Amino acid sequence: MKSIPTLKEPKASPLGGGGGISVIGAGTMGNGIAHVFAQNGFAVTLIDVSAAQLEKALGTISKNLDRQVTKGSLSEEQKSITLSNISTATDIAAGVKNATLVVEAATENTNLKLEIFKQIDAHAPEGCILASNTSSISITKIAAVTKRPEMVIGMHFMNPVPVMKLVEIINGYATKKEVTETIVELSKQLGKIPCTVNDYPGFIANRILMPMINEAIYSLFEGVAGVEEIDTVMKLGMAHPMGPLQLADFIGLDTCLSILKVLQDGFGNPKYAPCPLLVNMVMAGKLGAKTGEGFYTYTAGSKELVVSKSFK
Ligand SMILES: NC(=O)c1ccc[n+]([C@@H]2O[C@H](COP(=O)([O-])OP(=O)(O)OC[C@H]3O[C@@H](n4cnc5c(N)ncnc54)[C@H](O)[C@@H]3O)[C@@H](O)[C@H]2O)c1
Repeated sequence: MKSIPTLKEPKASPLGGGGGISVIGAGTMGNGIAHVFAQNGFAVTLIDVSAAQLEKALGTISKNLDRQVTKGSLSEEQKSITLSNISTATDIAAGVKNATLVVEAATENTNLKLEIFKQIDAHAPEGCILASNTSSISITKIAAVTKRPEMVIGMHFMNPVPVMKLVEIINGYATKKEVTETIVELSKQLGKIPCTVNDYPGFIANRILMPMINEAIYSLFEGVAGVEEIDTVMKLGMAHPMGPLQLADFIGLDTCLSILKVLQDGFGNPKYAPCPLLVNMVMAGKLGAKTGEGFYTYTAGSKELVVSKSFK
């Protein structure tokens, strides 16, 4: 029988003692990032402009912890300690004032992130590392709006954060070596496997993944095959655990569109132009799992994959 691991104390944290972790954005990624830090003993402040989103995030974290308890990888006591490590805030200034690390995981929009980083820089203590979970936006550009570009880094967790092992760490043009080393060490403390890359559009993960997803959407758009056929070919033929259309739904179609635009602008190459079908779906508010419909439809509590009626 598997024994239940004990919660790690963040005593030997590479960040040093004292302050906590502030996570900005309580959506798909923010709740997972808060979950993982809190489970590993860090005090987390989860910040979102929407109080309703914060409440929803706490509910999601609790449900995901329940799943770990059912599997036997966490005890009830560890679940309640994890939840008690998380507090929430709707104001960035108050939420980052005691942080040693801020991880920004707000909506994938360049202007929004630049505004958020100006605010974080103004209110986080000197010496606090500012990380972004952005999928594609330039870390160098984000760093340039702060007065501490050497302390800014990409800390790109994968979805779902509590499950996925990889953290893609992105060095901006000015990122200090010590900051990279700290984030590498911290990622290991969270039980993750860090992989460090340099700051070019899409980094590595999305530079390779998004053109594949876009090509799958083009194949559907051009009538080469249906949703199920495209995903089945990639699952059974390439041993992908999830087909590209299902994965796009899971990531969020708005996020996929934003990343493709960053690749298109960043490289100036039309091969990255987002498929018009993706653009239309985002305009129609069909963003995938988070809105209940994308290439598939999603019903709470059901794991069955049902192709959206738009594609039947
Ligand atoms: N979804 C994925 O699979 C995935 C994977 C890796 C990285 N990312 C990246 O993570 C980031 C978040 O993506 P997501 O999928 O969680 O998005 P999401 O849409 O699920 O959540 C974004 C959250 O940010 C909040 N927000 C917006 N403006 C804010 C502000 N000014 N201050 C505080 N909160 C604000 C929104 O209310 C929302 O709750 C993006 O940069 C995205 O590219 C996403």
